[in-house]
Amino acid sequence: MKAMVLFFLVSVTFNFAFEFPKEWKTWKSTDTTLTKIGALPDCDADVDALPEIYQETVFTYCEVKEGGPGKVGVLVSKDHTEAYSKRSGTYKDGAAFILHLKDLKVLFTTGYKDNTPVYKVFTEEGKDITAKSGPLSANTCITCHTGYRNFCKNGQCGAIAK
Ligand code: HEC
Repeated sequence: MKAMVLFFLVSVTFNFAFEFPKEWKTWKSTDTTLTKIGALPDCDADVDALPEIYQETVFTYCEVKEGGPGKVGVLVSKDHTEAYSKRSGTYKDGAAFILHLKDLKVLFTTGYKDNTPVYKVFTEEGKDITAKSGPLSANTCITCHTGYRNFCKNGQCGAIAK
C-alpha cells in the first residue's frame, strides 16, 4: 500500500514537472543544425550525410505524416537562452525548449525539474498529447535524448548553428 501511494505521488509529480508554456510564441527562435536543414523529410530521403542521431530522428518521425513531418523551428525560453547557447548541462526548472513541428502544429517540449529533463508533446493550443508508447511517447524522447550521451548534453541535443 505504502509503495502504491509513493508510486502515485511520484507519477503525479512527474506529470506536473512543468506546465504548458502559454507564452511560447514569444520565446527566442533559434538557428540550429536542424532548423538550417529546415524540415524533417519523409522516409525516402537520403540522409546518409547527416550525423547518426539526425538519421535516427528522421527514421523515428518520417512516418508520422505523409511526406514527412515537414518544417521545424527551435524555440528557447528566456530563462534558458544562456544555458542553451553554452550547452551548459545545467538548466533552471520549468519548460525550456521547444522543437516546433510547424506543419503538424505540434510542440515537442523539454522542461527541467531539479536539472532532470522531462519530455512532453503539446498541441499549439496547449493540449498535452504525450502518448503512452510510440514516437510521441516520453520514452522515445528519452531513448534518443539520453541515449546519445556523447551528442546530447543533459537532454539538450541541438546547438546554436554557427
Ligand atoms: C531519434 C532521436 C530523437 C528523438 C526520438 C527525439 N529527439 Fe528531440 N532532438 C533530437 C535532435 C538530434 C535534436 C537537435 C536538432 C537540432 O539540431 O536543432 C533534437 C531537438 C529537440 C528539441 C530542441 C532543444 C534541443 O534539445 O536542442 C526539443 C525540445 C526536443 N528535441 C524534444 C523532443 C521530444 C519532446 C521528443 C519526444 C516526443 C523528442 N525530442 C524525440 C533527436 C531526437
